[in-house]
Amino acid sequence: MHHSPRIFLSPPHQSGGEFAFVRETFRTNYLAPGGPMVEAFEAEFTDFTGIAYCLALDSGTAAMHLALRELGVGAGDLILASSLTFIGSISPVTFLGGELCFIDANRSSWTMDPELLAEKLAACAKAGRLPKAVIPTDLYGQSADLDRILEICRPYGVPVIEDTAEAVGARYKDRHAGKGARATVFSFNGNKIITTAGGGMLASDDPELIRHARFLSNQAREPFPHYEHREIGYNYRMSSLAAAVGRGQFQVLEERVQRKRGIFAFYQEQLGGLPGISFMPEASYGCGNRWLTVITVDETAFGATPEQLRLALEQENIEARPIWKPMHMQPIFAACEAVGGGVSEDLFRRGLCLPSGTALTEADLSRICGIVRRQGNS
Ligand SMILES: Cc1ncc(COP(=O)(O)O)c(C=O)c1O
Repeated sequence: MHHSPRIFLSPPHQSGGEFAFVRETFRTNYLAPGGPMVEAFEAEFTDFTGIAYCLALDSGTAAMHLALRELGVGAGDLILASSLTFIGSISPVTFLGGELCFIDANRSSWTMDPELLAEKLAACAKAGRLPKAVIPTDLYGQSADLDRILEICRPYGVPVIEDTAEAVGARYKDRHAGKGARATVFSFNGNKIITTAGGGMLASDDPELIRHARFLSNQAREPFPHYEHREIGYNYRMSSLAAAVGRGQFQVLEERVQRKRGIFAFYQEQLGGLPGISFMPEASYGCGNRWLTVITVDETAFGATPEQLRLALEQENIEARPIWKPMHMQPIFAACEAVGGGVSEDLFRRGLCLPSGTALTEADLSRICGIVRRQGNS
């Protein structure tokens, strides 16, 4: 019945530059993980982010797993993490038998509330059980307040792993988001601002952390011809083909950030005046990549629920999605402690992510806005 092609939430958007790198990979027959294409991608990413050492991997989830291993997280260790995030941010904690405690977001950034973190850390210190790491998520392309979080963690000696999976190209103060954390996780999943058709990066200013993570990512092979093993590792390296796609995507990253921000501005101009519609705020300390444009809907003022909006768009073959369901509300984490929770619960109830693909035209965006407007009272 649908005559127009489906509009996805955030589909891959080719630059046209990918194929030259893919062809180069075939020409050199490097149809394997590692190698010169992967090294070049890592070097470009290092230059761009200003984080000194980068390790390309086959997912952001793998990058988080390795970061946790490098910090020595093991069975029974406590980890404090953002509740408002995607499961891949924190599932690796469970791979290692760690115990999660979820920290709520604040209203001004929708990222981890530093004041709640400060309270929880003080309580942990008093109880004599400090967390092994803190994991703030840079939500929908907006950086958490990293300097404040680092300042809170420093006296306790607790390291920070920043989940910057959604925030490639975002700025925090005068630097790339994620720079300054002990370790930083990026994702190039197909829905992200740039993609490698699935992939991730672990970055750190600590050479030893990345050196050992690289060793673990390659099955922890000791340097012997017969493959000697003294530790258990993983098969997590990025393939050359993925790195080739990533290098082609990387050429247009800055353009993509501008376009994502342009899409947000368009929606805001078209819908911002409607009663009951609000937009995700931008924190004063940074410049996000606006990976997804996210609105909140006040049902009474607007005249429809976010779910009704989502279904109206779906009727027109357009994909929209609720905000991430907070981790402390997930059945699998029912037994975990939550610090606060009201803000992320409220955002989950009222939030909606609008189509934010960088290939969307003004005509597509106008059509989406028209559908949203028709659902309202005014
Ligand atoms: C906040 C966040 N963390 C982690 C991940 C995991 O990344 P990947 O899908 O590359 O494993 C994602 C995205 O998928 C994410 O959005």
